[in-house]
Amino acid sequence: MEILIINGPNLNMLGKREKSIYGEMTLNSINEMLLARAGGRCELEFFQSNHEGDIVGMIQRTDADGMIINAGAFTHTSIAIRDALLAVSKEFIEVHISNVFAREDFRHKSYLSDISKGVISGFGAMSYAFALDYFLEQKK
Ligand code: DQA
Repeated sequence: MEILIINGPNLNMLGKREKSIYGEMTLNSINEMLLARAGGRCELEFFQSNHEGDIVGMIQRTDADGMIINAGAFTHTSIAIRDALLAVSKEFIEVHISNVFAREDFRHKSYLSDISKGVISGFGAMSYAFALDYFLEQKK
């Protein structure tokens, strides 16, 4: 089984950006934590982009069996990413480091939630880990 982990805009800035909200971990250290957690039980592929079209392209061409997506601000704006996910109809989990429901109103709207398997929001880097656990459980 292969899982694709997609991170959208500004998530390459983790470890530097708004640490009180997003914590100290860099995206690389989160990805390493996920690799350790998977422990070879599934393949992980990592993709980060600040560009909406690049994320759409990746969703269209991936061979992965499932996806973990933190679309960053595109979560709240992108019909294009929603349509790409609908086009490939692969199971995906929406994740957020922060609890978006405890933040500004504009972060309460997601174009992805209703078509996702589920949403994990507010557990810091562990949001990704819990999403990975779901896929690892499916494999058993
Ligand atoms: C985020 C929440 C979004 O509202 C924000 O635009 C991000 C990160 C999170 O992981 O908490 O860039 O997706």
